[in-house]
Amino acid sequence: MRIISLSPFLLVVLLIVLSPCESSNNVIEKTCRKTTNYALCVSTLKSDPRSATADPAGLASITLDVLLPKANATFTYTLKLFESVSGGTSLYRFYGTCVDVYGNIVASHIPNALSELAARKFSDARGDAAMVGNNAAFCEEQFGGRNPLTPGNNEVHDLATVAADIIGSLG
Ligand SMILES: *[C@@H]1O[C@H](CO)[C@@H](O)[C@H](O)[C@H]1NC(C)=O
Repeated sequence: MRIISLSPFLLVVLLIVLSPCESSNNVIEKTCRKTTNYALCVSTLKSDPRSATADPAGLASITLDVLLPKANATFTYTLKLFESVSGGTSLYRFYGTCVDVYGNIVASHIPNALSELAARKFSDARGDAAMVGNNAAFCEEQFGGRNPLTPGNNEVHDLATVAADIIGSLG
């Protein structure tokens, strides 16, 4: 009886003591368990201090915020490669397609996904995030094998997929 009468008090004490650091990790872990790349999801979110106080929609936004400069770096690199090859070659065509793809990713798909997320248009936001991943994969597949854009394409594809998965779990 004594234990039973004490336990609500102990529970409250434990919640107060443990919740500030436990809850943010729990939100991150719970959210990332709904994605297809748990490890990337957790490491990405834990790298941004804003994640500590974010809800799942906020975590989706943070993922897109982390993705944008990475996609932009790949865009810049793609432009450089495009400008370094001669016209009329297949590499010129492939890089040209990737310049278009990344131009849209950086100027449209990621900013659109962020504003749709802010407006709680989750279905649209998910579509734009998924488009980022699909288009990075489209750029990559043209080459039929490893190429200078492979690391950037994989990074953008994988992180965009995490973002789309998180948004897909928001309902
Ligand atoms: C992309 O990178 C370029 C060059 O570093 C920079 O000028 C531009 O502001 C960046 N754009 C975005 C959307 O981050």
